[in-house]
Amino acid sequence: MLIEDITVHVDNKPVYDITFNDSYDGLADILNRLGFSGKKICIVSETNVASLYLDAILISLNNEGIFNKVTTFIFNAGEENKNLDVVRDLYERLITEKFDRNDLLIALGGGVTGDLTGFAAATYLRGIDFVQIPTSLLSQVDSSIGGKTGVDFSSYKNMVGAFHMPRLVYMNQNSLKSLDKRQFISGMGEVLKHGLILDAGYYTWIKNNFSKIITLDYDTLCELVHRSCLIKRMVVEEDPTEKGKRALLNFGHTLGHALEKYMNFELLHGECVLIGSILASLISYNKGNIDKNTLTDIITTIKMFEIPALPKDIDIDKIIDYTRNDKKVVGDKIKFILLKSIGNAYIDMDVTKEDMRQAFTDYLDQYNM
Ligand SMILES: NC(=O)c1ccc[n+]([C@@H]2O[C@H](COP(=O)([O-])OP(=O)(O)OC[C@H]3O[C@@H](n4cnc5c(N)ncnc54)[C@H](O)[C@@H]3O)[C@@H](O)[C@H]2O)c1
Repeated sequence: MLIEDITVHVDNKPVYDITFNDSYDGLADILNRLGFSGKKICIVSETNVASLYLDAILISLNNEGIFNKVTTFIFNAGEENKNLDVVRDLYERLITEKFDRNDLLIALGGGVTGDLTGFAAATYLRGIDFVQIPTSLLSQVDSSIGGKTGVDFSSYKNMVGAFHMPRLVYMNQNSLKSLDKRQFISGMGEVLKHGLILDAGYYTWIKNNFSKIITLDYDTLCELVHRSCLIKRMVVEEDPTEKGKRALLNFGHTLGHALEKYMNFELLHGECVLIGSILASLISYNKGNIDKNTLTDIITTIKMFEIPALPKDIDIDKIIDYTRNDKKVVGDKIKFILLKSIGNAYIDMDVTKEDMRQAFTDYLDQYNM
């Protein structure tokens, strides 16, 4: 299936393309066209993804013989390695290999690799170019687009970071086939969010194509990733530095992040976002924004993706307390994202602890299975 590239603009100027591919064969050609022939390239990846896809990329880049040198930096997979120690090791490698400002980093992996590599690229020599090759669903539909880069610091997620735009986002939808089911569903948290906050038609399409999505039908996955990328592009073009509309992308994330932390990261990010999306929908319903049919429709659709049940004895107040550390807190108010209807989200500054407590109680009583 041939899918059209998407160009992402910053301040109305085209800055990078997102390309959709079924292999890594075309990568060298695009890098050549972007002016990287004769440059050094460092492919940054982690153990899981490198074992699956690094060889194919090395073959593609080395076959052409157009780059000065192609080197690799592989770190241990996992969020716990998205930190400054790994960035420091990467800086050391780049210095040893004499990378200069004209050279290039390639992030091959999920959101962890993309965020870490982007941050190293933003800061090494005050900024060098980088390319995103996202391999997880979450990174293809969300984290590789928009230029948000960063690492975790102590127990604080994404506490250190920078905005730094990639020169290219090169996706291979076939790489999604090696994701395990939980990781795939985790990515669906962001996909459903796109429909819920901005595009009712897309939400309905996801619902109607559930069985093709969950069985990883190639053409369906291509359409899904493409549609999500179009939504993410629209939001980041309108609000590149998260001062306004981009906050809508936090739908499901305020309580989702708090839950992720409370559960000690035993649940995946997207699983918590899916539960957080149900909680935000419950608050929207309890405030009278959406009717019961709409709420039921949302919960039934999210539940099709088999999200794990929460322990019955969770400490709701502790989870709510964790929302106070959220980056969305303004003074003592939380920038909560709620729905007016499916496809129409807004920022609500008046969500109280009691609203959150009620939503959690409703969830545990009626939907936690
Ligand atoms: N920058 C942004 O705008 C943004 C947005 C959302 C999330 N994020 C960040 O993204 C990260 C989460 O991303 P993620 O879920 O991709 O995490 P991840 O990079 O850890 O990938 C998830 C798991 O899937 C594996 N994996 C990745 N691609 C694979 C493939 N094709 N086949 C088999 N296994 C594969 C990884 O090895 C890992 O075990 C978080 O750190 C989050 O903060 C950033």
